Amino acid sequence: MNLTNRPRRLRRTESIRALVRETSLAPDDFVYPLFVCEGEGVRREISSMPGVYNFSIDQVVREAVSARDAGIRSVILFGVPDTKDPVGSGACAEDGITQRAIRAVKREVPGMLVMADNCLCEYTDHGHCGLIEHGEVLNDPSVELLARTAVSQAEAGADVIAPSNMMDGFVEAIRRALDQSGFDHVAIMSYAVKYASGFYGPFREAAGSTPQFGDRRGYQMDPANSREALREARLDVEQGADILMVKPALAYLDIIRAVRERFDAPLAAYQVSGEYSMIKAAALKGWIDEERIVLETLTAIKRAGADMILTYFARDVSRRLA
Ligand code: PBG
Repeated sequence: MNLTNRPRRLRRTESIRALVRETSLAPDDFVYPLFVCEGEGVRREISSMPGVYNFSIDQVVREAVSARDAGIRSVILFGVPDTKDPVGSGACAEDGITQRAIRAVKREVPGMLVMADNCLCEYTDHGHCGLIEHGEVLNDPSVELLARTAVSQAEAGADVIAPSNMMDGFVEAIRRALDQSGFDHVAIMSYAVKYASGFYGPFREAAGSTPQFGDRRGYQMDPANSREALREARLDVEQGADILMVKPALAYLDIIRAVRERFDAPLAAYQVSGEYSMIKAAALKGWIDEERIVLETLTAIKRAGADMILTYFARDVSRRLA
């Protein structure tokens, strides 16, 4: 037995563990996702996501203030409109739910960075992320609508546009539309590597965006593929993405690592709704220690290579880190 090296020396006390710790979490690592609905005074808990709400605009402002008080500096807004139609016209409306929410948060919560999720699925009655013809999700016409939506979100004051719909060429189209409208300073965080995942289930309840027929495998990625993730990331970098994202997070740590190693762009990871709900459900049953597992999963995501994490735990965890 050669015990010249005893790794346990560096684990003896919390002080020494803190000194040699390689990965740490801070409130400004997080982007806090918020769902905004119509009405006033609305705070409707999502049954499959305890602790996550549909907020009316007045309430989303309150929630953003409380997030800021916990040290969070970025939110991402998802609109939950009252009315939907086949072409998702609410997505790009000047007075659409997302656009009004962006204006309110930018006005009422100075300094808060506001990202806008850019997709059609919350606004279409069929629940798909693009326009439909003969049961197929069309690419190019959908991209055009996304680009218009991006401009309307930038006009409302969004700092970052976050396209999530996985149509081909969306980054290029959005970049061009933003630049032509005088928004060359608005950044794009591309959901570059987005898998067709069962982990989005609870989100679809929160956003009312479950596809009414078929599924999203025709545009979101096959969970079995990793080289394809690098191709997707490369295409988005070439098209002008400022920040790349991998989504979901915990089941795709290898992908986060691979993208981190190949690309220099800042990398985001999205700890999605199903990841949140699984932890919450087990914690509510008393089977796991929620606080501990939240920190462990977020640390793992950062250790894998994410610079920032979108997580529904953002506010709670930031309070504890403070
Ligand atoms: C919209 C979108 C989805 C998520 C983020 N943007 C749903 C989907 O693609 O079905 C999922 C986020 C989550 O599960 O927390 N396209």
